[in-house]
Amino acid sequence: MAKNILCLWSCLFSVLIYTSVHGALEQETENNIQIFENNNDFAFRLYKSIVAQPDSQSKNVFFSPLSVSMALAALSLGAAGETHQQLFSGLGFKSSSSEEVHKAFLNLLQTLNQRTDVDLEVGTALYVQDTFRPHADFLEKMKRFYLSDGFSVDFTKTAETTEQINKYVSEKTRGKISKFIKDLDSRTVMYLLSYVYFKGKWLIPFNPKSTEQRNFHVDDETTVPIQMMYKKDYFDAYYDHQLSAQVLFLHYNDSFSMMLALPEKGLSALEETVSLQHIVKWLRWKKKQKYEIYVPKLSLKTSYSLENILTGMGMTDMFTNKANFTGISSEENLFVSEAEHQASLDVDETGATATAVTGLGIMPFSWTYTPVLDFNHPFMIFIVDRKTTNILFMGKIVNPAKKDANQ
Ligand SMILES: *[C@@H]1O[C@H](CO)[C@@H](O)[C@H](O)[C@H]1NC(C)=O
Ligand SMILES: *[C@@H]1O[C@H](CO)[C@@H](O)[C@H](O)[C@H]1NC(C)=O
Repeated sequence: MAKNILCLWSCLFSVLIYTSVHGALEQETENNIQIFENNNDFAFRLYKSIVAQPDSQSKNVFFSPLSVSMALAALSLGAAGETHQQLFSGLGFKSSSSEEVHKAFLNLLQTLNQRTDVDLEVGTALYVQDTFRPHADFLEKMKRFYLSDGFSVDFTKTAETTEQINKYVSEKTRGKISKFIKDLDSRTVMYLLSYVYFKGKWLIPFNPKSTEQRNFHVDDETTVPIQMMYKKDYFDAYYDHQLSAQVLFLHYNDSFSMMLALPEKGLSALEETVSLQHIVKWLRWKKKQKYEIYVPKLSLKTSYSLENILTGMGMTDMFTNKANFTGISSEENLFVSEAEHQASLDVDETGATATAVTGLGIMPFSWTYTPVLDFNHPFMIFIVDRKTTNILFMGKIVNPAKKDANQ
């Protein structure tokens, strides 16, 4: 039940992170803005791919498009050929040069980590098997463009390495995501992480004394009691006629805002139609007015296996033997064996905390590829003496069910 309560809100909250985060780009160059506009479009495509997964209809959805795109953009440093193209078009960077994209991420990382009026930390980390030697150029660029922390580990000691990575994630998310990796494959040679931690205080806080139990209407039949916060004050809002939705802005200090979009009817029409253009419109035309607002207190955690989700967005090769990671190693055929995303959201009277982590596990293909030999149709058979190369017997099997060959 708890899982369903907030479905109505899911769409908007997913919007919050990158909207606010990319507000930081205002002072960046034209070029970067263009790059991240394309990338914001990725956020909506990622959302649609997530909600298209089986049984996600009635679930809360919350993720960080920034964390996912940063991990994939960093991974693209090591990708070549078709794998690189799929990553770039999947992320919406098709027409930009690699150099431009990586520089834009560096700018974004630096700008976001400099913000002091909210608690915000964005970063990446790379864990490398101590016996594995990635190209120096790849490691250097991870550090230069993605300011990556680097660690040498032993993935064959799975418990130890799992604990080390989980401890790092837990530190970076201030304990919000404490068990990121559950099953670490001992054949992993590299693990790439990206994380976002955001904690902001409302410019207009809610009074905890006004919070009370109220009903939330999950659908026509289901109502659940939840803790609802209340405030009467001047808030920025916008009514979108095209979407029949009311949009409320809850501002944080600095230029960050949470935007909540409440559709008049079901959520599905809104989630199918909403796009970056709407967000831009809302930001431009919002108006301050006195409102009584009721907003649920929230505390939720989500977790997504990204393989099907990204494959659904055309990023297919990296998960298969077609993967081209010659930018990481030319000796091993590498592929992405694991892609995990987890996020958390807490909303209360004082503010909101949102975190997300994306992890990409990479391993050599040769180690996992077990060819199948299925003798399920006619075949030939020989019995030979290897020493003398003498054929002792030979024949063919056309129908193993027939016991008498003369029949
Ligand atoms: C990877 O892509 C590069 C550049 O297109 C190409 O030259 C190379 O043959 C590809 N390698 C593999 C293993 O597919
Ligand atoms: C916003 O942040 C600035 C700088 O940290 C601080 O001086 C100010 O009091 C903050 N305002 C609110 C409403 O928290």
